Amino acid sequence: MSDAAPRSRQDQAKEQAGRQAARYVEDGMRVGLGTGSTVHWTIVALGERRPDITCVATSLRTHELATSLGLSVLSPDEVGALEIAIDGADEVDAELNLIKGGGGAHLREKIVAQMSARFLVVVDESKVVERLGAFGLPLEVLPFAPGVVLDRVRALGAREIARREGLSDNQNLLFDADFGTIDDPAALAARLEAIPGLMEHGLFLGDQVERVLVAGTDGVREIVNPRVSG
Ligand code: 5RP
Repeated sequence: MSDAAPRSRQDQAKEQAGRQAARYVEDGMRVGLGTGSTVHWTIVALGERRPDITCVATSLRTHELATSLGLSVLSPDEVGALEIAIDGADEVDAELNLIKGGGGAHLREKIVAQMSARFLVVVDESKVVERLGAFGLPLEVLPFAPGVVLDRVRALGAREIARREGLSDNQNLLFDADFGTIDDPAALAARLEAIPGLMEHGLFLGDQVERVLVAGTDGVREIVNPRVSG
């Protein structure tokens, strides 16, 4: 008899979504590998199948997982551009805007997503929301002047900002900012990007998301972005 704990429905859904996304990866592709417990299964599926691909990892732990499974991982500069990137998300709204960074990897994740011609997102149903904001917005901040940076974030409407333990893979500080419901993600993203020392925020705008694979109790559905051709 196995003494492994039974897996939750959410964990099973994450595996389904993650594995389904691996089907989009073909021989010869340069592939961006996201971070988190859902895209974990994409990486596992690729490790099982071992297509002839070159990967870029969005975090040290993804790098470790992918190489341990025999996948070839190079740095972003060595690869230059990607055919496809696959990553998880913490929230997805109706316009396919995302909050990412629950794992603190959003700076590298954004670089890798922007390197890619196609960006696919894998989530379980609990991540789909009408409007972003309940999760709290991850922020990566340069340790030089965090108080100054966070004052400017508060001036944009953040009600509370909580510091996370530890540092990002880039040796920066990590925070979660509570903006309440985010009515205009593009406007908030633009204002945050104007703050020096705020290395990255976790808003990813829907205009770069090709599709979202959402796993629920009835299997995986795909939300395709009509504004982004695959
Ligand atoms: C890491 C991320 C993750 O993709 C996001 O937190 C979702 O993670 P999970 O699939 O474990 O729910 O943005 O920085």
